[in-house]
This record gives sequence, structure tokens and C-alpha cells, in this order.
Amino acid sequence: MITVFTERKSVLRVSVLLCVLLNVSGCCFSDWDLDFLTDDLFSDVSPILANTKFLLDDLFKTSNKYCIDHEEDPIPSDVVADCIRRGRELARAAARRGNELVGNGISLEDASPAMLHFFSASLPSEVRKASDTSHEILSATKLLQMKMSTGRTPNTFISFLKHQGVRLKDAAYCQSVKVCCSSSNKYRTIDGTCNNEEHPEWGRRGAPFTRIATPRYADGIYAMPVATSGRQLPNPRVLSTRLFSDQPIGSRVLSNMNMQWGQFITHDLVFQVMEVTDKGGIQCCLGEGADVLPSEWLNDKCIPISVPEDDQFYRYHGVKCLNFVRSVTTPRDDCSLGHAEQMNTVTSYLDGSPIYGSDKKLASKLRSRSGGRLRQETRKDCLRGFLPSVSDKFAVCDLRNSSDPCYLAGDTRINQTPTLAMLHTLLLREHNRVADVLSELNPLWSDERLYQEARRIVIAEIQHITYQEWLPVNFGEYYLRYYRISPSSLYTRDYSADVNPGVINSFGAAAFRFLHTLISDNIMTCPSSYNAAYLHRLSDHYFNPSLLESTPDSFDDIVRGIIAQNEGESDPYCSGEITNLLFKSRNRWGMDLIAMDIQRGRDHGIASYNEYREICGLQRARCFQDLANEIPQDRINALQYLYECVDDIDLFVGGALERDVQGSILGHTFQCIVAEQFYRTRIGDRYFYDNGEMPHSFTNDQLKEIKKASMARLICDNTDGVHFVQRKAFEVESAYNPKYRCDDYNAIPYVDLTAWKKPTIFD
Ligand code: HEM
Repeated sequence: MITVFTERKSVLRVSVLLCVLLNVSGCCFSDWDLDFLTDDLFSDVSPILANTKFLLDDLFKTSNKYCIDHEEDPIPSDVVADCIRRGRELARAAARRGNELVGNGISLEDASPAMLHFFSASLPSEVRKASDTSHEILSATKLLQMKMSTGRTPNTFISFLKHQGVRLKDAAYCQSVKVCCSSSNKYRTIDGTCNNEEHPEWGRRGAPFTRIATPRYADGIYAMPVATSGRQLPNPRVLSTRLFSDQPIGSRVLSNMNMQWGQFITHDLVFQVMEVTDKGGIQCCLGEGADVLPSEWLNDKCIPISVPEDDQFYRYHGVKCLNFVRSVTTPRDDCSLGHAEQMNTVTSYLDGSPIYGSDKKLASKLRSRSGGRLRQETRKDCLRGFLPSVSDKFAVCDLRNSSDPCYLAGDTRINQTPTLAMLHTLLLREHNRVADVLSELNPLWSDERLYQEARRIVIAEIQHITYQEWLPVNFGEYYLRYYRISPSSLYTRDYSADVNPGVINSFGAAAFRFLHTLISDNIMTCPSSYNAAYLHRLSDHYFNPSLLESTPDSFDDIVRGIIAQNEGESDPYCSGEITNLLFKSRNRWGMDLIAMDIQRGRDHGIASYNEYREICGLQRARCFQDLANEIPQDRINALQYLYECVDDIDLFVGGALERDVQGSILGHTFQCIVAEQFYRTRIGDRYFYDNGEMPHSFTNDQLKEIKKASMARLICDNTDGVHFVQRKAFEVESAYNPKYRCDDYNAIPYVDLTAWKKPTIFD
């Protein structure tokens, strides 16, 4: 990698020029109210300006700061216009610089852990447009803050700005957000628009995450948070090694399928992607992780995780830096100036988007255009189909041979692990099975009708399995009733058009990630004789799903294994397979998912654990000892050793260390955030499967059938050779949860689709 430096003299020259300009412009800040930013913190705290300060040179020289005494007085329009114009220039200069860096060789190697973490090195054009506009808005906000912020703290400036309602109106992106809906469509749109008739943009693919707490960006806008003292927060890798060590404790009750369903529904609800340049993924570390890139080579979206010299694992591999890049941000729906919001690139509804896609183009590519079916591939000696292959296998997967499979689905994370690909395959098969039965029952239905009806049924099954089977075993029946999450026995009538179903930022960037602790070291496979069990190390199979297809029986072997294997216990112990070896590919080391979870929370400006304690009805802690009701003493001691102040504790860390609430795998604070999310996901979805009295509602008979769906039945109906399954497949087999034959329809009821037979073609 060092050779890159000698070869890339032109970039070096640009960097030197930038440094000179930075120094010059540094002197010019005297006119500006920058007391919230000391000069040495400038580049840390203000990534927006770090490498482009020189563009502001004349602005700093010529402009005076403005004082506004009353909140109601408007900011002068020429000041706003100037900041917006210059914000745009800044954002564009930063993007150009990013492209130049990649063009000059600061780019990631294919199939490296850092590259695999991008899932895809390019972003769809709409995502790029939104991200570009959002950076214009953030830069303009930053400039306005510098001009106006006399006597205001970062957060009071943001609320002042909110009050003023300053918007970016002219960007093409801001005009295209408004969507028009055709009235009362029976089927959901693919991209989630028009679900809410008053706010058709709510829950759409590309929507900003919603927030339930004020973000803690250091400058109130976008800068990575710092400790209350103004110093750096504790290093995420240190927090990971000290608080989330590896101890192979398994859950006594829950099966590995429970973990897998959790990841699948995560992918259905949320996908935050990282910033890329026009030319690919962003590199933040010197090759092989030897160090953080020097600042003149560093993209302003980089937030690498540095690894201490004495790290228990990475020191043996000479790794001092883990690549990490900021999430894509997006404008608020009204394009107002203010703090950063991250983008959810999939629909926020629980709508099977990992199977069907979240955008029309991909959705169309996944369809076979015959009999309502999705595209699938057949394999010799296998009765049932497999997912179609991607066209650029080696770009997306980490393959050993060209014959290894690499799948295409509605979500680009599909190939992350073989068990995730297995669950996708089960659901693809379920769609095609349902479409075939519907087609037999209603031979005159068109391909479109069969596709939409089968999709509607599969989504309903996913919602039913999640709300009636998965949530109760994980979070406790009592709690679900208390939070009004459980649907009622037949129809529910509490859809609320006032509830935004958008994913809560702290759900995706902290609370639900705690379930990373459920991941086991190994993937288990079981032959049909059940006379043996084989363990395959997880880290040998990231982005290589070939385990599913090594023999004609492999798929079923994985299914038998995943329901027989116990998942990891929900405690703050984490497998080294994810904390040292994530996406290791052919290397000897990989990434650290827990350090990433912590850093991601900071990237998204997630408010501190203490803020969330208050939001969730606990006492705000004034000192570490105030945490004693929720967090065991040894963990409090560890927190006190690592954090300067109780207010600094990251939500992910504090929430993860809480004792479980009775009957749940989560502590109080995470339970509260997760409950709020699943409440909104149900009540804010007009198409939720058991919503009654809507033009698109299922009939009484149909809904009764849907409510028979279960994980066990999904397995029975979509495997060739799995003939025995325990009724509760999210729990391992036990005396109280014995296995039943798949053809025992009393034990494992089936969804009878004759309820969808229509007497005439006019229905
Ligand atoms: C072997 C299994 C899994 C692997 C390898 C894995 C890996 C990852 C990775 C690499 C990320 C992105 C990290 C970042 O850039 O910030 C992520 C995000 C996430 N994961 Fe997992 N994960 C797994 C299982 C799970 C499970 C079981 C759950 C929950 C039930 C879960 C919940 C989440 C959530 C909520 C996010 C944030 C998603 C987003 O905002 O896009 N993951 N996971």
C-alpha cells in the first residue's frame, strides 16, 4: 500500500495545496462565531468542512456574523441564499475530492472484509441524488450555524432553525418526493408509497429514519458525538473487547431459526447503506488495516475504528484500523435545513421486501412472468427450486469456484450467510407454491393477479409468524399485550393513519442490533437419519452460500440443523466469529460487528443511553451507581472504568448490559424501543394482514386460514426431505415441544387456500 503513496504524486500535490489553504482559511474564522469548535477539533467535529474550508475563504473574509434577538425574527433571506449556494459548492467539492481519491488508487480490494461490508459498491441513482441533496442541506445548515449561532448551543440552534422553517426548495430531489396515489389499490406498492393515504411518502423506500430523541451530534448537525467533557468517547473496539467478550453460552430454549428469522425481518424493515463514491467503496485504512489513512488521503465520510496496539486479537495480524464509512443521509420530506437524517433504503413496512424487492425495477427482474411465479432455478435431483443467480457472481460473493452459487433476491444482503439464503429460499418456494395452488383454483387469473395474490398471502404469513410466534417467544406475551402489539383473535381495527410506520433510528442503529449476541459460532447441518450433526464455522461461509447446494440433500440438512441447534444466549457475550472474523473472506482476520454497532450508533447521532432511560420511563442516572436497578454491579464497574461520565454511555452499550425483563430476551430500555417499533409497524400499516373493514381486507374465511401459518408449516411445505418438525420451530425440540410428522395436519395446521377460490372471473 505504501507504493500507492509514491505512485500518486498528483493527489499528494492536491493535499499539500489543501493544507496550505486550510491554514490560510483558519485565520479567517475570527469573524465567525466558532466558539463551539476549537480549531484542533475542527476536522473531527466538522467533516463537512474538513477538506473544503478553502472554498469559504472569501465568505469568511467578507461576512459579518448575524445576531437575531427574537426567535420569530426571520433570518435575512440573502444570508440563507448565500449559505445554500455555498453549501452546494462545498458538498460538490467534497464529492469531487472523494472521486479523485478513488481515481488515485485509494480504493478497496475486491472480496476484502471492508469491501464485502458494502454489500454493493454502487448505489441506485435515486439514493445518490437524495444523498447529494442531503449533503447540500447539511453544509448549508453548518454555514448558517456558523453565521448565526451567537450564544446558541448546537441543539438550541437546531430548534431555532426548525422554528424558522428554512428549506431547500430548488433541488430536483425535493420536488420529486411528493407522490401521487391511485385511489384504494387492493395491493401494496413495491416501494411502500401510498400505504398511508394522507402521507403517501411515509414508510417508502428511501425515507428518512424517524427519531424519538434529539440526536447527539457534536455540533448538533452531523459531526460524530464527543464525550460531555469534549474529549473523544471511548474507542468502540475497546468497548467491544472489554464488554462483549466471547463465551459460548447457548440459549436453553430458542433455536437458531429464531436468530435467523430475526435477521430476516430486520432486512425486511431496515437497510442503512454506507456512502460510496461514483467509483466504488470508500477506503479509510492503509491496506491490510496497518493504520488509519493520513488525513489528506481520508474521505470526509470515513469514520474508521482504530484498534489499540495491545488488542488481544488484531495485534497478531498487524491490524490497527477497521474500515468504516458513514451511512447515507437523506433530506427530510420537507427538505428543511437541520441535522442529518439517515436513509432507510428499503420499505419500512413488514412487507416481504427481501423477497420481492423495494423498487419496481428489481421487483420486475425477480418475476418469471408466468403463473404469478417468481424466477427460480432448478437443480438435478432436487424437487424444489433455488433462488436465481446474480449476473456478477464474483463481484457480490466470495466464491472459491465459478460453479459456486451466488443468489439474487429482493435484498442485496441475501448471500451474507448460508442460513439467511436458506430462509430466503424457503419463502421464494412458498410464494411459488401458493401461486401454483391459486392458479389451479382460479385458472383464469392472469399472471399479475396470481403474483399479487400470492404476494399478499406470503406477506400475511410473514406478519402472522412474526407477531404471533416470533415476538411472543422473544419478548414475552404479557409485554406484547401491554404495549398493544399483539393482533387480536380475528380482525384488528386499530389502524391509525396518524402513526408514521417509519423505522425508528435507534431501533435499527442500536436496540435491535443487540440480537447480534444471538449469533452462534457455527452453522449446524443434520442428515435425514439424524444420526450425526456437523458444525461449520460461520466465518468460513460469509458471502458464500455453497453449503446449501453441496449435495442434493444439503438444503434440507441445513434446515434440520437450524431447528435442532440452540442459538446463542441473549447476553453481552459475543462470538469471535463476528467480533474478530466478520466477513474475513480468505484473510486471517475480519471486522468486528459489535465495534461497528457502537460506531454506527454514533454515526447516526443516536442519543445516549441516559436519554433513552428517561424516554423509556426510567430515572435519569446522575452517577454510575444509579444504574444499579437495571445493570448488574460488575458491569457498572466496567462501564465506570471505560466511560468518563454516565451521560456518555452509548445506547447500544448501556441497553445491552441491562438485565433482561422477565419473559424477554431484552432489558427494559431496548424492550421499550423494540416494542414501540413493532407497535408502529403494525398500527401504521394500512395493509396489515388482519386489518378489518378495509376494501382490501381478507375475508373472514381467508383470515382464519392465514392465522394457521407457522414456521413449522413453512418448513414442511417447502423442503423435499424434512418430514419431522417441532411445532414451535423457534424453540428447540423438548418434551414440551416434540417433533411431529409434517403430514400431521392437526399438530402442524396448514393454510387451506381453497378460501381463495373465486366463483367467477369477475371477482
Ligand atoms: C450471522 C448473522 C448476522 C450477521 C453476519 C450480521 C451482520 C450485520 C452487518 C454487517 C450489519 C451492518 C453493520 C453496519 O454497517 O453498521 C448489520 C446490521 C444490522 N443487523 Fe445484523 N447480522 C446478523 C444477524 C442479525 C440478527 C439476528 C439481527 C436481529 C435479530 C440483526 C440485526 C441487525 C440490525 C437491526 C442491523 C442494522 C440494519 C441497518 O440499519 O441496515 N442482525 N448486521
